[in-house]
Amino acid sequence: MKLGVAVSGKGSNLRNLVDLGFDVVAVATNRPSCGGAAFARQRRIPVGELSLKRFASEEARDAAMRDFFRSHDVELVVDAGYDRIHTRPFLEGYRGRIINVHPSLLPEFGGSMDAVEQALRSGVPVTGATVHLVTEDLDAGPILAQEAVEVRDNDTVESLRRRVHEAEHRILPRAIRTLEARLAESPAVGQ
Ligand code: GRF
Repeated sequence: MKLGVAVSGKGSNLRNLVDLGFDVVAVATNRPSCGGAAFARQRRIPVGELSLKRFASEEARDAAMRDFFRSHDVELVVDAGYDRIHTRPFLEGYRGRIINVHPSLLPEFGGSMDAVEQALRSGVPVTGATVHLVTEDLDAGPILAQEAVEVRDNDTVESLRRRVHEAEHRILPRAIRTLEARLAESPAVGQ
């Protein structure tokens, strides 16, 4: 299935998908200078540079993102470190076909911009990573895959973040395959 990936940060999840041979046909970003966008350019993957300042509203930007992905025949969208909430034009354009990777065991630490730091501060013995379908409810769409990560006594935000990232790199490919299989069985779900 043709994947469109939305990024705002380093892009390690994007790189992992490309390295595993997933068919990433387009990358969209709200931060054209981010590491994920640089990686995509280096691999000659078309990059949609969709900074908010170029548009009159979030909705206009999201309509442009939808059209950009459609122009590359994207069938499934992966939010891999994308730091904005999709608005209606995008959610409706790709309903049931957008997934997000979040660095905690949702519903714990949902809606947080730094769920790893929050987990460490709160003293929980276990955190993890989640891949879920994106719906109007921020971080609350149906879960496709999760992996627990133990919090160690000597963990720093960096060391814990590294292990959470490793978990993300394992579950995101799995979740994509799960959703691809579901969509192949009943494509209407995502229309
Ligand atoms: C990941 O931790 C993801 O869960 C969160 O943003 C981070 C992106 O990392 N939404 P990367 O850009 O894929 O390295």
